[in-house]
Amino acid sequence: MNREQLRRKVALQTSVESTKVARAIEAMLEIMGAALVRGESVSMRGLGMLEPRTARSGLRSVRLRPARVRHPAKSGTESTTTLFGGVMDQRAHQDERGGGDQGDQRSQDTAPLGLDIGTSRIVLSRGTGHGAKTETQLNAFVSVPYSKFTENILKQNKVGYYLNGGREIFIFGNESEKFASFFNVDARRPMKAGVLNPSEENGLLVIQTIIEKLLPKTKKHEMVCFSVPGPGRDMTSDLVYHEAMLKNLLQGLGYRAKAINEGLAVIFSELESENFTGIGISAGGGMCNVCLAYMSVPVFQFSTNRAGDYIDQSVASVVGDATTRVRVAKEESLDLRRTPQTKIEQALSIYYEEMILSLVEALRTDFVRAANLPRMDRPIPIVLSGGTASPKGFVEKFASALEQADLPFKVSDVRIASDPLTATARGCAIAAMHEE
Ligand SMILES: Nc1ncnc2c1ncn2[C@@H]1O[C@H](COP(=O)(O)OP(=O)(O)O)[C@@H](O)[C@H]1O
Ligand SMILES: [Mg+2]
Repeated sequence: MNREQLRRKVALQTSVESTKVARAIEAMLEIMGAALVRGESVSMRGLGMLEPRTARSGLRSVRLRPARVRHPAKSGTESTTTLFGGVMDQRAHQDERGGGDQGDQRSQDTAPLGLDIGTSRIVLSRGTGHGAKTETQLNAFVSVPYSKFTENILKQNKVGYYLNGGREIFIFGNESEKFASFFNVDARRPMKAGVLNPSEENGLLVIQTIIEKLLPKTKKHEMVCFSVPGPGRDMTSDLVYHEAMLKNLLQGLGYRAKAINEGLAVIFSELESENFTGIGISAGGGMCNVCLAYMSVPVFQFSTNRAGDYIDQSVASVVGDATTRVRVAKEESLDLRRTPQTKIEQALSIYYEEMILSLVEALRTDFVRAANLPRMDRPIPIVLSGGTASPKGFVEKFASALEQADLPFKVSDVRIASDPLTATARGCAIAAMHEE
């Protein structure tokens, strides 16, 4: 059982609000961790005793003595304190380095893993809730011709690279953006429209290199849940192939892997207090993913290809500018609430409007078409996430499009995810926790 599972069980058994339970567990672990760092052992009746140990090499560890072993109370310089109905055993300790980190490392090692493999970015979440740690890499690469000199320079500057058969050097992930703008080229993308890019033969290799940076090889067979798109409305992309190749890749790195729909992951991450009932939407670069779930069970899911990349390309073509420049303008300063100031802003607002209207229309028609809909007596929440949902005014625009549409269900509220760029990864980690 990990910390998150403990939190849920305690919340269920005590009917204490789960955020309060999380805080209490956090505090308890902190207090116990601090005691162990001070060299005290921590004893809990019925469970056993945690004892700090220092090996001759100086390496520190913590040992659990199960409850059946008896520990007579110590005397002299050592004192005892009662804790949780048990006994805390204090001892003098010389070396106080690293104990706290150790506790942290331990919980990180067992944290559930969620991986959002998006067209634009790959996000890893270790852990769930407040304790979740996320890390992001751009899902992109730049290739430069091989030379020993370039390789040495990259090494000296600690830039991650991959040698492709000795002819080219791939600079991948976050570093790729700097290189692309320096050489004035567009970074290449291993994925397109939400799935593996068929015209990029090195795509899977690059994804593997990026994932290995986030999730090193393991022998422990930890479970990792990774995001996959829902069936496409605009084109039939091969989801089966995409999902199978990524699963293979993760298994090759030593993990157990399970795919989870991206929209459902957003629901897992954001709608816990609504019993995982509602609509989750992830608007990314390659696509928008939508899922309606009732008590965590997906009712329907779909994806559209009109998302960030579509907006960038459409705007670039009508204003005659480079796609990258459009994207930078969009990410840096777009505010959909104000009157457009430039030609690019004008075009961005038009294509955003069109994307939102087509997404709402898709939602309406799929809802009407869906068979076996559960009875939705109450209005349901809609939660938006992803980079494309980030500009100011997006939520308001989306909510007003919903009001105009004649929807066959009632919406309680439209909200943006607590962190729109990591919601999918965090939801995948929650899914992984339930797979353990
Ligand atoms: N602040 C922002 N404003 C508008 N668009 C943004 C912002 N940040 C990222 N984006 C856009 O969001 C898209 C990427 O979203 P993300 O959720 O990271 O994608 P994916 O699921 O495709 O990996 C890109 O089109 C990017 O230009
Ligand atoms: Mg995404």
